[in-house]
Amino acid sequence: MKKQTVAVIGLGYVGLPLAVRAKEKGYDVIGIELDKNKIKLINKGISPIEDEFLKKNLSLFPIKATSDKKQIKKADIVLICVPTPVDKLHNPDLRPVRGASEMTAGNLKKGALVVLESTVNPGVSEEIVRPIFEERGHKIGKDVFIAHCPERINPGDPKWNVTNIPRVVGAFTKKGLKKAQRFYESIVDGEIRPMRHIREAEACKVVENSFRDINIAFVNELAKSFDKLGIDVKDVIDGASTKPFAFMAHYPSCGIGGHCIPVDPYYLIERAKQAGFDHKFLKTSREINNSMPEYTVELLQDKLNDLKMPLNGTNVGILGIAYKANVDDDRESPFYSIVSALRKHKARVHSFDPHLKSKSTCKSLEELLKKSEAIILATNHHEFEVINGKLLKKYGIKAVIDGKNVLDKKDIDSYGIIYKGIGR
Ligand SMILES: NC(=O)c1ccc[n+]([C@@H]2O[C@H](COP(=O)([O-])OP(=O)(O)OC[C@H]3O[C@@H](n4cnc5c(N)ncnc54)[C@H](O)[C@@H]3O)[C@@H](O)[C@H]2O)c1
Repeated sequence: MKKQTVAVIGLGYVGLPLAVRAKEKGYDVIGIELDKNKIKLINKGISPIEDEFLKKNLSLFPIKATSDKKQIKKADIVLICVPTPVDKLHNPDLRPVRGASEMTAGNLKKGALVVLESTVNPGVSEEIVRPIFEERGHKIGKDVFIAHCPERINPGDPKWNVTNIPRVVGAFTKKGLKKAQRFYESIVDGEIRPMRHIREAEACKVVENSFRDINIAFVNELAKSFDKLGIDVKDVIDGASTKPFAFMAHYPSCGIGGHCIPVDPYYLIERAKQAGFDHKFLKTSREINNSMPEYTVELLQDKLNDLKMPLNGTNVGILGIAYKANVDDDRESPFYSIVSALRKHKARVHSFDPHLKSKSTCKSLEELLKKSEAIILATNHHEFEVINGKLLKKYGIKAVIDGKNVLDKKDIDSYGIIYKGIGR
């Protein structure tokens, strides 16, 4: 059989590993990207993002990146992996999805399979993507097969990656569904579950991330409550986790970040609102999770009060800019809201992230500790595992807010340094 060509539109955290995986599995791959700098790096075999899979595989299975949309004409399969952010008022911004769909519809090979992988609310394939192709005269199920297969990648995860995460897939026609299923079965070592309707495939992804948002909101609320009740929330969650069924541990923190969990629920909230439904539960969860950075700063303010130190003028070091451990992604990171809250109180803010050195104000952990009187651990990067009471004492740190509940409370307390976790 003739080798098929795959075009991946958007070479970010989702698109680039996918493109490399398709190449590994024998497809000819073209990567379409707007960012010139990313194109340059990818064509040199350098990953523009920190990712274990790419570190190992990009040079072994190199792909050609370009901004030339005409290259899409060569593709039998087009995978759209562009961002789906929200604006300041949390309204979904579907311009990248529209742009990539228009680009594909204008450069389509007859009979191509087009799969939207970006996370969207139920209805986007039907209400936005499909009409873009139909307006250009492409008949669905004949000139083009449209499917949706939401990406579930979890950057930094040592076990689950683009090669083995099971997928759900939906399409407009039976033939389109079969084509999409066959393609994903050829690149993923895991179940590919066909969904009855494309809308259901879209809904799966928002539901998965809303599920996480809601559960995290619950433990964040518990953390605030247990702070008043003098109960260690982490111990309680660990205790509850001994129940072998019907409980799933989630842990509180200084905030949620990344391009998925703090974003995707708004896609459902907004689309349901248009249909006359008010997602109260999801809205409350978003509100609770969005309040955590400010709450973290309030905890620091309380502890500094005990030391008769005002936040105003105090040097506060924040450890970690990335939204989660061992990645270089700072999109929607709680770090930025923590900085704003600290600046509102006129604290002097310093930062260090070994994965985002160009965005840090300090060059090393030592420099940050030297400049700080109090610290907030905002990301549990493995480089911060060296932090203990002895090290903090050496640099004269007086208070620690452990935004990830990972430091040794007893050890830090034993050096006379004030320790406070989130709910512990
Ligand atoms: N990051 C994750 O962990 C993750 C996980 C699962 C799903 N998703 C979803 O996947 C989608 C992509 O997320 P991401 O994290 O890869 O985003 P990203 O910002 O890392 O990558 C998207 C890329 O698309 C490029 N782009 C935008 N419009 C384009 C166009 N018209 N043509 C060509 N390139 C274009 C951007 O320059 C960028 O490099 C989102 O919908 C997101 O919700 C992300």
